[in-house]
Amino acid sequence: MTEESAHDGSELEPDVATDGGSDDEGVVRRDRFSGGPARSFLSSLAADERIFEADLEVDRAHTVMLAEQEIIDDDVAGQILTALDAIEVDGHGSLPDGEDVHEAIETAVIERIGADGGKMHTARSRNDEVAACIRYRLREDVLETIETTLALRESLTDIAEAHTETIMPGYTHLQPAQPTTVAHWALAYEGAVRRDTERLLEAYSRINESPLGGAAFAGTTFDIDRERTADLLGFDSVVENSMDAASSRDFLLETTQALSTHATTLSGLAEDVIIFANRGFVDLADDYSSTSSIMPQKKNPDTLELVRAVAGDAAGGVQGLTTTLKGLPRAYNRDLQRATTHAWETVDAVTEASEVAAGAVATADWNEATLAAEAGEGFSTATGVADLLAANGLPFRTAHELVAIAADNGADYDALESAAQEVLGESLEAHVDPAAVRDALDPVESVASRDSQGGPAPNAVAPQIESGREAVATEEETLGELADALEAAHEALRAEVNGYV
Ligand code: ARG
Repeated sequence: MTEESAHDGSELEPDVATDGGSDDEGVVRRDRFSGGPARSFLSSLAADERIFEADLEVDRAHTVMLAEQEIIDDDVAGQILTALDAIEVDGHGSLPDGEDVHEAIETAVIERIGADGGKMHTARSRNDEVAACIRYRLREDVLETIETTLALRESLTDIAEAHTETIMPGYTHLQPAQPTTVAHWALAYEGAVRRDTERLLEAYSRINESPLGGAAFAGTTFDIDRERTADLLGFDSVVENSMDAASSRDFLLETTQALSTHATTLSGLAEDVIIFANRGFVDLADDYSSTSSIMPQKKNPDTLELVRAVAGDAAGGVQGLTTTLKGLPRAYNRDLQRATTHAWETVDAVTEASEVAAGAVATADWNEATLAAEAGEGFSTATGVADLLAANGLPFRTAHELVAIAADNGADYDALESAAQEVLGESLEAHVDPAAVRDALDPVESVASRDSQGGPAPNAVAPQIESGREAVATEEETLGELADALEAAHEALRAEVNGYV
């Protein structure tokens, strides 16, 4: 027999009261299961501090619904709801011992109002209860992460706006490849973070479904109203199948994966800025740097190194969660208790990293002179010269060969001219205007000429800045609506509770 049937509400024992068991074991479990030497191993009470407020809200919504459905009397509901308020004031630290926060709060209610407190757990189980609490709390956490992604996108777009003309080397294989601009680089990350925001919003929509009323997994004989509790808790809808409701955690996996993807984006951004700082392209603000305890001259990009490392935490979270969930049979298994912590740790680490990354890039100083001096490094204008020759009628492959020879022999106009003699048997001038070649060799002109859609030319970057700003504005509005909906549900539930207390 599973433990939850001992206090499943449908079999309320009239004598469940504060005198039932020893204090250590609490009034809910009394002395049936002490936990023995495994007691602390079994307990999630400490970790459950995170869902203390959520559990009180879930208890309130459930109690209001039970009263509305006339499953419990209004005056009992009032006593329970009053007790819950007092328990909230006392805080998680004052809870009696228990296997988890759900049991401890129930014990605390019974301690305050007597056996009728046990009616709170009518028509539910800790299985649907904990799933509701996790979803309730995770919504707030993910909204916070989404907010940090928007702040980061704003910082990146600000950088872009300020540096549409700031040329810099662009790399492939970390070798100088083609000149680009700081704006174009910043917008590359803005685009990636935009998709991270979208993935987190997608995940949010699936977190925001109510499992409450699924009970242990098999529903209940009581005439409950699941839509009502969903509504009171601000959930968009109900997870319909009660077994699915109580036992599925794919919403945790999806969220953790989206967080991990964002952390991977952040790690690339951090790595770029670390390399740029090494090259003297960018100076991090002191607030986002660290010094050496021995080398007095050092200013190190430690914050970004830690941001880079958080990708490891997040990937570990996904791995831990996936491995925990893999092969779990339906319905509830206690493994799920340890699944949750992977999600909390991941969301905390990634939100913090995202916030720090936004601050670090927003306050960094770009050294335009150094960037301009280096923009042409490694004959990075070579592709533009080859494009020019191809645009003037040479097969691109021939142009590629000609420019490659010039690259090995000085990488300037004279080198191109002798390569032309070698490859074409005639002067470059027979094919192309020398002034156009000299322009193509200039990094500034090279950037300005690459004005294809999404390219680095300032006039191609302008619409990217605009669409970036528009997307942030839209998602800021969405975020505001989601947060307002949670706040409105909280206030509406409070108003309902006030009708009983
Ligand atoms: N602390 C548990 C968890 O996090 C609550 C559910 C306990 N349910 C049970 N059948 N033992 O999953």
